[in-house]
Amino acid sequence: MSPFVLSRTLPLDATAAALRADVTEGLTRSPKELPPKWFYDARGSELFDEITLLPEYYPTRAEREILIDRADAVAAATGARTLVELGSGSSDKTRHLIGALPSLAFYVPVDVSESALTGAAETLLAEHPALTVHALVADFQYGLTLPDVPGPRLIAFLGGTIGNLLPSERATFLAGIRSGLAPGDALLLGTDLVKDESVLVPAYDDSRGVTAAFNKNVLAVINRELGADFDPGDFEHVALWDARREWIEMRLRARRPVVAKIPALDLAVHFEAGEELRTEVSAKFRHDGVREELAAAGLELTHWWTDRQGRFALSLSVPV
Ligand code: SAH
Ligand code: TRP
Repeated sequence: MSPFVLSRTLPLDATAAALRADVTEGLTRSPKELPPKWFYDARGSELFDEITLLPEYYPTRAEREILIDRADAVAAATGARTLVELGSGSSDKTRHLIGALPSLAFYVPVDVSESALTGAAETLLAEHPALTVHALVADFQYGLTLPDVPGPRLIAFLGGTIGNLLPSERATFLAGIRSGLAPGDALLLGTDLVKDESVLVPAYDDSRGVTAAFNKNVLAVINRELGADFDPGDFEHVALWDARREWIEMRLRARRPVVAKIPALDLAVHFEAGEELRTEVSAKFRHDGVREELAAAGLELTHWWTDRQGRFALSLSVPV
């Protein structure tokens, strides 16, 4: 195997068909809603990387601190030969793990963003020339088929991205992960923790407007891919803390009545002034909840590490 392979589980036209189906379904229902994976074209991935550097966006720094402090403990607990990372993005924090795993030979980053995967592979291969990187353009939620790689395998799902799935989607997702694990494999999961609203909301509504631009990028994706005529200026970025469901909800709120044409779908979408489109949830977790959700999927939590300020947790679990 050459040191870098890029493959897809879905052909490009399937991605286009999925976008058409999600937009048709999501923008004609009430309340309007879109799945978050459509944020991440090349520009979206770039904007997310900018978010991770914002003073208000603590999760990336908190998780990096844990990875630096605990990479050796993860290595002692797993002995992985293959690291599979779901929603890997820039893989920037992952380097702390890769450097610490003594038996690691294969790295399989999985992401919907091809530009993020190629950028990450370039940086990683320069640092770890002996590593084989098999990048996979795929949706981790649907029909994920991993390349044939040697075990033991460590599956990493970092960044709190599991919080972007709804509770029922999380249950399906974790059960799918569990069914792919053999004895000796493990799951390393990053979860952002419940904390005061005064810390949570600014992390999703920063003073420089980077998160607002990221949220509106989904409109640019729909304009480009489906020939639509959304004006991002017609929408306002909204981030709300839902204390009952313990999640941040990201929305785009129409500043005025909007009619957007989507020629590729032969559709005109109407927004009343003030009408909102839900673009993402970002759930926040507690120790017991994570343990229970893992257990329901047949996974046993064996390690729980937090950053020094207790903002973010990394957990290790194994198939029961
Ligand atoms: N793990 C990185 C990036 C987190 S952002 C970090 O911790 O900083 C979420 C990442 O998941 C993005 O790179 C995005 O492209 C990817 N992603 C989102 N939904 C996805 C899906 N359904 N399937 C695969 N990748 C997805
Ligand atoms: N997984 C990240 C999170 O929930 C994604 C994210 C960060 C995000 N900021 C965002 C998604 C703003 C949409 C809008 O923290």
